[in-house]
Amino acid sequence: MSQFRKRVIKTGNDNLRIDGSKKGWSLPQSYYKDPDIFELEKKAMIFNTWMFAGHASQIPNPGDYFLFNLLEESAIIIRSDDGSINAFYNVCAHRGSHICKEQSGNAKRLVCPYHAWGYDLEN
Ligand code: FES
Repeated sequence: MSQFRKRVIKTGNDNLRIDGSKKGWSLPQSYYKDPDIFELEKKAMIFNTWMFAGHASQIPNPGDYFLFNLLEESAIIIRSDDGSINAFYNVCAHRGSHICKEQSGNAKRLVCPYHAWGYDLEN
């Protein structure tokens, strides 16, 4: 059991928790600064649910794309030639460079700016 989980287990008194926080009061400072708690929040809440990245109308034409950035992750949301919308990690398979640097644009093909590896819009 992680330190965080141990800290939030409630005591018998519903108004007082093991970490000293009180129900109805603001959280202790550590909840806002503790990297372990932030990692748990990312895993449990941020990367464990659907996120609104944007609207299909933002990319009406084949090759239109925009980036969706969330914390340290970046995704390319792009309309393919058949009209479907795909999402890819914005990471080159060669050496891990970001493939797209511009926040939005249009591309016939995605080309990594580092060593020019190319990617189709479909996969
Ligand atoms: S890092 Fe993308 S082509 Fe080398």
